[in-house]
Amino acid sequence: MGNMKILAGPKSEQLAQKISEQLNLKLLDISYKYFTDGETYFKIEGNLEKEDVIIVQTTYPNQEKRLLELIFLTNTLKELGADKVIAVVPYLCYARADRRRLDGEVVSHTITMDLLQQAGLDSLITINVHNREVFHKTTETLEKYNLSALPAISDFLKDKINEEWIIVGPDKGSQEDINTLSKELSLSSFILEKYRDPQSHEVQFNEADFDCESKTIILFDDVITSGGTAIKASKLLLDKKPSSLKFIVVHGLSDSEVFKKMYDIGVDTILSTNTVPRKDIEQIDISSLISNFIGEKFL
Ligand code: R5P
Repeated sequence: MGNMKILAGPKSEQLAQKISEQLNLKLLDISYKYFTDGETYFKIEGNLEKEDVIIVQTTYPNQEKRLLELIFLTNTLKELGADKVIAVVPYLCYARADRRRLDGEVVSHTITMDLLQQAGLDSLITINVHNREVFHKTTETLEKYNLSALPAISDFLKDKINEEWIIVGPDKGSQEDINTLSKELSLSSFILEKYRDPQSHEVQFNEADFDCESKTIILFDDVITSGGTAIKASKLLLDKKPSSLKFIVVHGLSDSEVFKKMYDIGVDTILSTNTVPRKDIEQIDISSLISNFIGEKFL
């Protein structure tokens, strides 16, 4: 590999800065501004001939804009002669429409990946992608890596928990992550039974028989958007009179109102990782997880 440099996309400057410091890699100079109609203007400085560049650009908030910016930056780096372009996209947008459930539905995950590849992207690194299996099968010739935020979450929790705590997953899809966390933290765990209406997307939970009275519960999910899952699961769990309920999520996409509702019903802590930066809750830093991976794989 040639010389590797880091390019911070809009809204991912802090993460890019951390990664560049941790890996001792130079941050490229880039200027950008938004025209009055909202379109983005970019100017990347310096000679990029034969350089390898890591773009750090999460794709939320404003998925379409962040994705298009990532495509523009990738394409331009290639046009400017960059050798390898690697994108670090901590939250990969549009990954949830990963298959056609109803006739005529758009499978946005595949299209997103194809667009990135067509822009010239060589490698994509993301974190807790929605569907790992589909992700790895999609756009086969694009080199893809899905990192898990769970080691960062376990490290964060390790010295705060005791054996009375329980880890809970809201649905079958969380089973693998819940198993990993419960093993890593030596805590007991269980999974709730969730049903989502395919038309209305409304979430419902089956009443379940579990004992968590006077215990501390960690409700863990990979993503929160409307908050339907987290709020309904929290209500169900709080009915069982735990001593406290904490919600931990990898990708915190919902607006602050959703978190306010959760606090109002009795959730005492809400944490997300900084795959999507936000100021209204405490965040678990995943920068070293990314840096370590880049260090091992690309440097
Ligand atoms: C579902 O498969 C995911 O793990 C989340 O539970 C879900 O996407 C969260 O979405 P919402 O906040 O809209 O319920």
